[in-house]
Amino acid sequence: MPKEKILCVVGARPNFMKIAPVMKALHGSNVLSPYLVHTGQHYDAAMKHAFFEQLGIPEPDEDLGVGSASHALQTAEIMRRFEPILERERPVAILVVGDVNSTIACALVAAKRDVPVIHVEAGLRSYDRRMPEEVNRVLTDQISDLLFTTEREAEDNLRREGVDPGRVHFVGNVMIDTLLGHLPRKVPAETTLAGAGAETGFAAEGYALLTLHRPANVDDPATLEGLLRTLRDLAENLPLVFPVHPRTEGKIREAGLQALLEHPRILLTPPQGYLEMLGLMAEARLVLTDSGGIQEETTALGVPCITLRENTERPITVTQGTNTIVGSDAGLIREAFDDVLASGGKAGRVPELWDGKAAQRIVQTLEAWRAEDA
Ligand code: UD1
Repeated sequence: MPKEKILCVVGARPNFMKIAPVMKALHGSNVLSPYLVHTGQHYDAAMKHAFFEQLGIPEPDEDLGVGSASHALQTAEIMRRFEPILERERPVAILVVGDVNSTIACALVAAKRDVPVIHVEAGLRSYDRRMPEEVNRVLTDQISDLLFTTEREAEDNLRREGVDPGRVHFVGNVMIDTLLGHLPRKVPAETTLAGAGAETGFAAEGYALLTLHRPANVDDPATLEGLLRTLRDLAENLPLVFPVHPRTEGKIREAGLQALLEHPRILLTPPQGYLEMLGLMAEARLVLTDSGGIQEETTALGVPCITLRENTERPITVTQGTNTIVGSDAGLIREAFDDVLASGGKAGRVPELWDGKAAQRIVQTLEAWRAEDA
């Protein structure tokens, strides 16, 4: 029997570490075979190629090359370019991951063409509809046929929204599959720091790792300036390593705030590859971030994380992991920072099923689902 095709979609950086183990597990299946479409939402070498290479993701079968635009234009363009591929390839289902614009755009095209949608990392909710990702999550889950969750609370969120529990499968966290699989190959922080031009001994006293890219933090010049001033103050106590997302770089430049980051204890770097970032996270004394994925990765690594957001869609990182939510208030950031330096931060534990086998469980479930259909 020929294998049945599952069309897998990726678009932006946080998708790549989620699709990698799923692709690998699908390649090992006797009944299913993956076909990979990259929408091109992220396209810079530092935002794409480094990840495909390091994570061993095969080159996409199709690259839609959409690039950057407003949300409406980007989403529409992905839909326009994706539909003919779906029509031509006729997969038995499409599989989308996470919550970026590519996720909802392709899910919507498939749902309208009656192609089943599989959503990996379903049911996460920040309950903050001002976040573009929250809109993407809620809508994608509503039109998905199979929903794979990373934590038990996600099942409750989905039930509240009327999603049939029979469609929901708690399988664990594919991003942690990737983390555990690649940890032995992480690039030592010292190597990355030296490569980024740090003075020898920059990190001798340890460092805090910072990432920042959410519109809520970087789009408004006053909010961005307040945050950068607070972070610059923290650097007096602990050197700061800051790989700058292209979006954030643009906003800092537009707001004329570059000088705030010119400080001997702040190291700015371009976006890092996956293995470099893994090393930087694993060896940091603490991480300051507004990323979703990094909250989970630091929990898995047992590294204290201070989240520069008002809420999180990943509450398990707070209740069980090493995460503390502080928002953008200078006083709260300082308090959490001082607490980690004084106490070493929350010990935390690794959540249920974050064990490196989530992708295997997903593929087993998909195989059983196809067998039911046959
Ligand atoms: C997207 C996701 C966000 C995710 C983030 C991780 C949505 C709504 N947002 O946000 O959930 O956390 O990716 O990185 O899908 N740019 C480049 N090169 C690139 C990509 C982007 O320079 O390869 C710049 C462009 O100026 C672009 C801006 O970054 O306009 C924003 O890119 P976009 O894909 O719209 O959203 P992100 O902020 O990256």
